[in-house]
Amino acid sequence: MTERLRVHVDPEKCQGHARCKALAPELFELDEFGNAHEAGDGTVPPGLEDKAWLAKANCPEIAIDVIEE
Ligand code: F3S
Repeated sequence: MTERLRVHVDPEKCQGHARCKALAPELFELDEFGNAHEAGDGTVPPGLEDKAWLAKANCPEIAIDVIEE
């Protein structure tokens, strides 16, 4: 079975380091303050799973969750 992933940014924790956007531009959007939000509903398109985990691992604020559905 194919595992579906979803990313979520905790707005309380995000401090705008933007590493997520640099590492996985398809999965994150930055707002006018430079804080990240998941793109769309956060669903990770097939083939981008590694980028989702990489972004989570590289956020200094531990603001990114990767949810396995
Ligand atoms: Fe925010 Fe972490 Fe990205 S602090 S901008 S979610 S790297």
